Amino acid sequence: MPMELLHDLKVSHPQDTRARQDFVSALRGYVLNDMAAGMKQRYQQAVAPALAQRLGRPAATQDDVHEAMKGDLFFKFYSSVRYNAQEMVWRSVVPGIEAALPEMQARAVAVQDRAGGTLTLDPALDLPENVTEIDVHLMPGVHAAPDTPAAGAIYDNGLAVFSAGFMGRELNDIGMSMANYIAKKFPDFRPADILDAGCTVGHNTLAWAQTYPGARVTGIDVSASVLRYAHARAGSLGISAHFHQMDATSLAFPDASFDVVFSSMFLHEMSVKDIKRFFAEAHRVLRPGGLLVNMELPPNQALEPYDQFYLDWDCYYNAEPYYRAFRDQDYPLLTRAGGFAAEDYLQFTVPQYTYMEDSAFAEAVHRPATIDGETGRLSASLQWFGFGAWKR
Ligand SMILES: C[S@@+](CC[C@H](N)C(=O)[O-])C[C@H]1O[C@@H](n2cnc3c(N)ncnc32)[C@H](O)[C@@H]1O
Repeated sequence: MPMELLHDLKVSHPQDTRARQDFVSALRGYVLNDMAAGMKQRYQQAVAPALAQRLGRPAATQDDVHEAMKGDLFFKFYSSVRYNAQEMVWRSVVPGIEAALPEMQARAVAVQDRAGGTLTLDPALDLPENVTEIDVHLMPGVHAAPDTPAAGAIYDNGLAVFSAGFMGRELNDIGMSMANYIAKKFPDFRPADILDAGCTVGHNTLAWAQTYPGARVTGIDVSASVLRYAHARAGSLGISAHFHQMDATSLAFPDASFDVVFSSMFLHEMSVKDIKRFFAEAHRVLRPGGLLVNMELPPNQALEPYDQFYLDWDCYYNAEPYYRAFRDQDYPLLTRAGGFAAEDYLQFTVPQYTYMEDSAFAEAVHRPATIDGETGRLSASLQWFGFGAWKR
């Protein structure tokens, strides 16, 4: 079932649209759990043995697996259903948002200043090509309609359908899991200034304000539309946060102005060159003793060829062209390219905070990271992956 949005920008979709959204959510749940399990079985039982016979060795890379699976009917069917379900996510929310937009804008203005947060836009900002040239994950232009909160509404409503219940009641499970991991694992670390880069509508930005009450939380993104929405959404939820239109590869903040620089599901949408520029900027704006922490997909080198292939599906079939190049990187080396020391690298996996008791989560953060085919996968048994580095 799609998650019902719990704030004042919520769109009341008509009954037939809600039924359609239910269907799309259920279809995605079916593809990501049932069909994915069936496809793996098909690979293990039929495709892998045939491939090993043809190559004279087992599959050694995800390219071996991908080549063999491309001709397989199960994979074609899986990809076709998953691709179409992805398009249907956005199609199921756009008409209702278009109809509700004028009234939603009025509601946004009414609630945006409730919690003392701010919005600072920069109409002169040069938007990067990774945003202007691609409808990333098939979502219609995140940079479009900059004078309205429309793109933010599409993202928020779309994620409610897309996540099929796997991202938490408030779609903030990633932020809650990451922030609570840091709070429980490092109880003496008390950040006063926290930055979320590529924050979109602030789902996971606000989790830091909830976890560290009293900290000043800032979110940046290049899209004015998502930030307008983020600002009003935060006001509606009564959580103070400060949103700026800014490029993460060229931050307009002074040196040493944050204790945490966070990102989630952000790096894989940028070129490796831009990730390095972002990490260098994160290093510059962090105070000594501060932390860079990114929630991301796990690195390919930690996974079996089949699981690499499975997670990189998005790169080939979901308009995520930077996805694989990022996942092929050595993550510790990436942080070093930003100026962080090798010995200050940090990585971990966490279960989903909003689906468990706080005490059980507190125990889980002390377990060693285990990366497997379920890590980062949007499924019923997922674990989030995080990595980053401390600044000396
Ligand atoms: C997948 S979304 C991130 C999701 C968000 N962090 C969350 O947890 O829900 C990627 C976002 O990055 C933004 N973006 C892309 N390149 C950027 C850049 N160079 N600087 C800042 N934001 C950028 C896009 O506008 C988009 O909103």
